[in-house]
Amino acid sequence: MVAAAPRALFERLPRLADLVPFTPLADGLPTAVEHVDDGLWVQRDDRTASVYGGNKVRKLEFVLPVARRRGGPVLTAGGIGSHHVLAAAIYARRAGLEAEAVVYPQPVTPDVRRTQAALASLEGVRVTRSPHRYAMPVTLAARLAALAPQRPYLLWPGASTPLGTLGYVSAGLELVAGFDGPEPDVVVAPLGSGGTTVGLALGLALGGWRRARVVGVRAADVVVTNRAVLQALESGTAAVLALGGWRPRRARWSVDARWFGPGYGAPTPEGDAATARAEGLGLQLEPTYTAKAFAAALELLAAGKRVVFVQTYAGTASDAFVSRKSPHGSSSC
Ligand SMILES: Cc1ncc(COP(=O)(O)O)c(C=O)c1O
Repeated sequence: MVAAAPRALFERLPRLADLVPFTPLADGLPTAVEHVDDGLWVQRDDRTASVYGGNKVRKLEFVLPVARRRGGPVLTAGGIGSHHVLAAAIYARRAGLEAEAVVYPQPVTPDVRRTQAALASLEGVRVTRSPHRYAMPVTLAARLAALAPQRPYLLWPGASTPLGTLGYVSAGLELVAGFDGPEPDVVVAPLGSGGTTVGLALGLALGGWRRARVVGVRAADVVVTNRAVLQALESGTAAVLALGGWRPRRARWSVDARWFGPGYGAPTPEGDAATARAEGLGLQLEPTYTAKAFAAALELLAAGKRVVFVQTYAGTASDAFVSRKSPHGSSSC
């Protein structure tokens, strides 16, 4: 655990601090908002935490304390290269909890291999394979039943519960505070389980932005990620925020499904081109989420919009990967 640190959410809604579970895990907040090109800014959420950055740790700060109270293993699920599964396992182990994941196949890319290797290097993490992502809920239910005597905590895949989403409400507040200049037109984020998109949109409204819209670029199947799911998540999160004294109106977000390509985790030509362009700006992307979202951001930029891209991918700089390098400096995976 890192030393207690202020969070933008609690500074804005101090009453919430006594009402919602919270444990500090991220030592890199607030993240910088960098002006990387004409009309393009990047919120550097790759640097949320030195142990393992990216977007998941922001949500886990609000969800893991609940698992700790329960005390049993943390059970979650995702693709074989899921950043969520890796983040959950890393931070659960650091909290002294056992961790278990149900994983399903996805196209094997270098990022997937690296993420798998980092997960395999953790002790006290059990992995159960499900034959297909649509079979995952059944495998998960079976593991939950088997673990019942140990009081497991079912960590929702992606950690996008109303509590987890508070982490991105805080990120939205940080973005408003850290943005230099007039309000942008759009904030672009990859869309998986939805907490990042919905939380950001609520945070921007809470921070006082009246124009900017969050565009969630759908990178997961429509059956798991769609407007109805996001609307339900927004209602739940709004109810929690109301406890803190703020009753949000409908937040400004939309879903852009045009960049998904042939399937979950499958690289696309547009994503590959966006990854090459990002490299020139000093950004590392991966094909499943951030490459597709950055392709959407570049299209908006080309259309003359002022765009903030939220860099939700930890990249390879976190301790989770650096410590895996051999003495000769090459990665072990
Ligand atoms: C790098 C990255 N960006 C974005 C997302 C999606 O975020 P959310 O699940 O909050 O929609 C994920 C989800 O796993 C991810 O790994």
